Amino acid sequence: MTKLWGGRFQKSAEAWVDEFGASIGFDQQLVMEDIEGSKAHVTMLGIQGILPQADVALILDGLQQLQVKAEAGELAFSVANEDIHLNLEKMLIDLIGPVGGKLHTGRSRNDQVATDMHLFLKKRVGEVIGLIENFQKTLLKQAEQHVETIAPGYTHLQRAQPISFAHHLMAYFWMLERDKQRYMESLKRIDISPLGAGAMAGTTFPIDRLKSAELLGFGDVYANSMDAVSDRDFIVEFLSNSSLLMAHLSRFAEEIIIWSTDEFKFIELDDAFSTGSSIMPQKKNPDMAELIRGKSGRVYGNLMGLLTVLKGTPLTYNKDMQEDKEGMFDTVHTVLGALKIFEGMVATMTVNTERLHSAVHSDFSNATELADYLAAKGMPFREAHEVTGKLVFTCIQRGIYLLDLPLTDMQEESTLIEVDIYDVLAPEAAVRRRNSLGGTGFEQVRIQLEKAQAALA
Ligand code: ARG
Repeated sequence: MTKLWGGRFQKSAEAWVDEFGASIGFDQQLVMEDIEGSKAHVTMLGIQGILPQADVALILDGLQQLQVKAEAGELAFSVANEDIHLNLEKMLIDLIGPVGGKLHTGRSRNDQVATDMHLFLKKRVGEVIGLIENFQKTLLKQAEQHVETIAPGYTHLQRAQPISFAHHLMAYFWMLERDKQRYMESLKRIDISPLGAGAMAGTTFPIDRLKSAELLGFGDVYANSMDAVSDRDFIVEFLSNSSLLMAHLSRFAEEIIIWSTDEFKFIELDDAFSTGSSIMPQKKNPDMAELIRGKSGRVYGNLMGLLTVLKGTPLTYNKDMQEDKEGMFDTVHTVLGALKIFEGMVATMTVNTERLHSAVHSDFSNATELADYLAAKGMPFREAHEVTGKLVFTCIQRGIYLLDLPLTDMQEESTLIEVDIYDVLAPEAAVRRRNSLGGTGFEQVRIQLEKAQAALA
């Protein structure tokens, strides 16, 4: 088959060489964006009088027909035509005749592919932002039901201090809020048109880049044609933002997995988000959470992959850049899937409030209360820490907790301790009294929930 660029060639590459160079296997995902870009380009060519209106009308009609077929999944792409751009151009020429060959006037595949990628990411980042918001709403709903659910808080995965379970859930809300802001901020750099940069130096035709950008809904155009066709920063940024999002989802997934164990039993996942074992009949596995934790790996990999592809490529376009696509498509797919699954998992999980309650009543996570109590009575905190530590040790030796320790034993360590200590040591009080800004106190958590509502509004 003759190539659209075959003029200067005396022989064709063999099929297996073509296959190695082809991107159609994956860049067909850009079919809609490519047609959209072509429509804008040819419309602009008509407005500028570069092509006669009659030709423009024929080309637009042909593109429209291809679009309808693409929507119906009826386009048959071929490796011989290398990529989505040449496949569509060939189809257009087959459909409307040689006039179809005028579409590529004043354009190169280099600005064309960059335009497609910008259009594609702009749409998908919008979807990602929408799904993050959805997940935030679900987290907020769960949190609202658990403001007064007392749970153990951890450092080093050791019991630390009692918290409101809502407070724990809301920590993820704010991570997601930052993720959302990062994606939103990145749109500024995605929403720029490279179209009209040509191969890299611009074009001799009197094109109107602002017009084609406007037709495509871009907010701005690249100021430098060489930068326009070389830039893949916006994709690196997307992969980087997605890596951080996946890091957050992965940490949350890890907690979901731990909370679902028999050892913890803090939550139970809905059957619809769990799987069984082929051999052990009793098993109910948190596969979805594990998979999300695992999938963070491929997203990080995609980021490292593209950074490495770009390193050392001279200006401007190099075929290396074709390697920007699979990682990006894969990341879009992974992130959208992970967000959807996680939202469903959190929306349907059951929180075992009794188990959480009994957990904080059988540990030393109220030890800080005793130290703070003594410090509030004037004892230097360092001494209060020491006194409390000794009392904890006494309890451990007797196999009891601080609330079980008789007042007389406490007073042996410090006479500052009075009977009101038992109220202070109650886990509910430990949470309620942590009323510093952003703390886990019920009042603060309610203020936080209001802030979260406002962030979503
Ligand atoms: N398939 C190519 C890519 O994805 C399109 C651009 C090709 N340009 C070129 N000069 N070979 O990067």
